Amino acid sequence: MLARVTGGKSTIHMTPPGSPLAFPDTATPGRVIAHRGASGVAPENTLAAFREGARQGARWVEVDVSLLGDGTAVLHHDATLDRCTDGTGPLTQLGARDLAGLDAGSWFGPGFAGEPLPTLEQTLDLLEALELYANLEMKPHGAPPAPIARAVAAALAKRPWTASRILISSFDLDALAALGGLMPEQPLAVLYEPPPNDWPRVLKRLRARSLHVEDGELDEDILARASAEGFHVRVYTVNEPAPVLRFRDAGLSGVITDHPPLFLDDPGWARWARDDQAG
Ligand code: G3P
Ligand code: MG
Repeated sequence: MLARVTGGKSTIHMTPPGSPLAFPDTATPGRVIAHRGASGVAPENTLAAFREGARQGARWVEVDVSLLGDGTAVLHHDATLDRCTDGTGPLTQLGARDLAGLDAGSWFGPGFAGEPLPTLEQTLDLLEALELYANLEMKPHGAPPAPIARAVAAALAKRPWTASRILISSFDLDALAALGGLMPEQPLAVLYEPPPNDWPRVLKRLRARSLHVEDGELDEDILARASAEGFHVRVYTVNEPAPVLRFRDAGLSGVITDHPPLFLDDPGWARWARDDQAG
């Protein structure tokens, strides 16, 4: 807000509630984002999970990006292979050539045996074919942020469609700053469990347009501040719709869920969830 006093009269220039900041943003059809793909019914962060998300009607998927030891960007949540593949040990001990032998599906169910651990490049090709939007979460796992930012930027730069259809997020503010330095026009989201009180200042510093907050940490004050300043707020990981109903009606921009049909196929949620004008 700017206040100017002229000849005893006061003129106040206010930012209208909800007015967009001059930061890049995605065009965002729909408000339901399939977390790690449709990870309620398919192994997380696999091509099968992204196909299933599209089949369920989600327009967005959220995916976790990690680096192998040779700098290859892959889709994987953890720093180690143990939980979600038939391998063991840290990702950093692998290079691209080691991916061929890995099974990232059997841990979830026998119907997914042999599902590969996908590279970011393979994932972007599938997202383009399925016409999906994506929230791509960078996970440096405590390593310096520049390599993962460089790997993501290199993959996106080859594909012009990603400029308006990929939203980059991270808990790691340094990784977001590094990505923003390489790709100033790429939409960014800051991830928090509970956001600090100065979260709007952090988003402005990073030129991020979106705040992603953990389920249970969102409140009306966050939504009111976001609305006043033109930020989007999305909440993760919501697998029970009822408690977020009051936030939907207070301006929530989206939900990140393992089970998109909870929203897309519920008559009480479907109109909001499928809105093609979603902001
Ligand atoms: O991007 C939202 C959510 O995925 C962040 O937490 O641990 O599931 O990657 P996590
Ligand atoms: Mg994630």
